[in-house]
Amino acid sequence: MRILLTGTNGQVGGALRPLLDKGGSVVAPLRAEFDLSKPETLAGALDSFKPDLIVNPAAYTAVDRAEDERELAFRVNAEAPGVIATWAARHRVPLVHFSTDYVFDGSGEGRWREDSHTGPLSVYGASKLAGDLAIRAAGGAHLIARTSWVYAAGGANFLRTIARLAGEREDLRIVADQVGAPTTASAIADAVAAIVLPNATNLEQWFARSSGILNLACAGETSWHGFASAIVAGLKSRGVKLAVKTITPIATADFPTKARRPGNSRLDLSRLKDRFGVTTPAWQDALSAELDHFVILQREQAGR
Ligand SMILES: NC(=O)c1ccc[n+]([C@@H]2O[C@H](COP(=O)([O-])OP(=O)(O)OC[C@H]3O[C@@H](n4cnc5c(N)ncnc54)[C@H](OP(=O)(O)O)[C@@H]3O)[C@@H](O)[C@H]2O)c1
Repeated sequence: MRILLTGTNGQVGGALRPLLDKGGSVVAPLRAEFDLSKPETLAGALDSFKPDLIVNPAAYTAVDRAEDERELAFRVNAEAPGVIATWAARHRVPLVHFSTDYVFDGSGEGRWREDSHTGPLSVYGASKLAGDLAIRAAGGAHLIARTSWVYAAGGANFLRTIARLAGEREDLRIVADQVGAPTTASAIADAVAAIVLPNATNLEQWFARSSGILNLACAGETSWHGFASAIVAGLKSRGVKLAVKTITPIATADFPTKARRPGNSRLDLSRLKDRFGVTTPAWQDALSAELDHFVILQREQAGR
């Protein structure tokens, strides 16, 4: 099986690469060879890659910058996935794509289901939602894994930001009224591999039965403040020296950002378990494993 994997230098793409390598021959073009900001070039590139499966974690993920780069965000997150999905439908090639909790308006305290009403608050969220809709409209076999609060030991993300700030400052002020599930890229990759790879010999038929959106995040919930507190406690317990003494909970209104973010990012994971038989780790367990990896990476980098 020939698998086209985009975004291989990103968090989710990087975690998927070694798992997909076990399931087939992976072609992982870099941005220069498969540039989602140039949707008009993608069908020709797909003709030459000739994949049997497309896995597309590449995306425009700069949430605040997207407010000023609306056109680019929509090209990468909506138009390009639409072109890929149209090519995939025409060639009967299944597509795995990734979506976000930012398609929701964050109201209430319930868990968002795959068919819950959407209402993005930001350009990024709107562009990702437009991508989901374009993929569905193309009519081919697809799985859209909708995830939240993604991080990895090696990416540009909340874990790395908190680790850096906690090393520099005595007090951190962190938003406590946005709730969701911090999710490791490796938990996402493990689940996608567990769902897709066992069906590799019969992918087209399997996707025909299983196409749609699938919520995919770590289990449990916390706020950014809770997540930051767990990161700091985990780093301290691993012997990392930090300057931070207090972590003060603040409201979203006290931390203005260019893009609005949903207050409620809880995703309902029942479909993942009931239809696909997959459970994800509790966010605390996933964080613990990622911190082990993070601390090793930091020590390696410091030793260089
Ligand atoms: N990060 C989150 O908190 C979060 C939350 C919910 C959902 N998601 C979704 O999950 C998926 C994976 O996110 P992630 O965190 O792994 O993202 P990431 O770490 O920011 O990586 C994004 C990848 O996309 C690539 N990319 C960006 N623009 C591109 C372009 N024009 N052409 C080709 N490639 C391009 C980047 O390439 P370069 O290496 O060249 O920069 C990078 O490899 C995305 O669909 C994202 O929307 C993310």
